[in-house]
Amino acid sequence: MQGQSGYSGIFITIEGTDGSGKSTVASLLKKYYTKHFPDVLLTREPGGIVISEKIREIILNPDYKQMDAKTEALLYAAARRQHLMEKIIPALQKGKLVICDRFIDSSLSYQGIGRGLGIEAIWQINTFAIETCMPACTLLLEVDYKIALQRIMSNPMREVNRLDMEAEQFHKKVSEGYRILKERFPKRIQAVDATQPIEQVVSACVQIIDSYI
Ligand code: TYD
Repeated sequence: MQGQSGYSGIFITIEGTDGSGKSTVASLLKKYYTKHFPDVLLTREPGGIVISEKIREIILNPDYKQMDAKTEALLYAAARRQHLMEKIIPALQKGKLVICDRFIDSSLSYQGIGRGLGIEAIWQINTFAIETCMPACTLLLEVDYKIALQRIMSNPMREVNRLDMEAEQFHKKVSEGYRILKERFPKRIQAVDATQPIEQVVSACVQIIDSYI
C-alpha cells in the first residue's frame, strides 16, 4: 500500500514523551522488519545526516540556555527539511519501509504546546519544511509523563540534554500536546500503551505497521 507521502515506500514515525521508550522500540522494530521486509531504514530526529546532526548539537547543547523558543522551532524544522530531502525521500522513492524516531508531531507537541508557540504556527513552518510528505502512520507511545521522567532519571547512561533539563511542567504540557494531536489526527496517530512489557509494546506496533504494508 502506498503511504500518504506519495512515494512507493512506507513512512512510519514513532512519537512520545522523553522516556517513553521510543528509541528502544524503534531499534526492535528495525530488527523485526529487517527479517520481514525487503528494505528497512531506521532513522531519527533531530539528526540522521551530517547537517541535521550539526543542528542537533546546537539545539540540544545544555550551555545554550538563552535560545529563543522560535529559534528552537525553526532549527528543528530546518533539521527536518534536510533530513527529509537527503535521507527519507530517497529511501521512500526506493520503496523502503522508513521508521523515523520523532518527526513533525514532536515539534507540534514540544514547541507548539510545551513552549506555547501554538500548534498552528508550528504547523505552518513545518509544512513549509516538509511540504506534503507526511507519515502514513504515527505510533504514539503513551506513558504517564511522571513515569517517563523517572525512567530518564534512573538511566545513568542517558546524556542529559537542554530539553531534559526543563521543569516538570514543560513535560506535562508536552504530554498534553500529544493528547491533543491524537484527537486532531485520529486516523494517522495510533496510540500504543507503553507501560506494557517491551515485547508487548513492539508486537502492538508490528500489528499496526503490518496494516500499512
Ligand atoms: P533525544 O536525545 O533524541 O531524545 P529522545 O530519545 O527522547 O528522542 O533528544 C531529542 C529532544 O528534542 C527531545 O527532548 C525532544 C526534542 N524535540 C523537540 O523538542 N522538537 C522536535 O521537533 C524534535 C524532533 C525533538
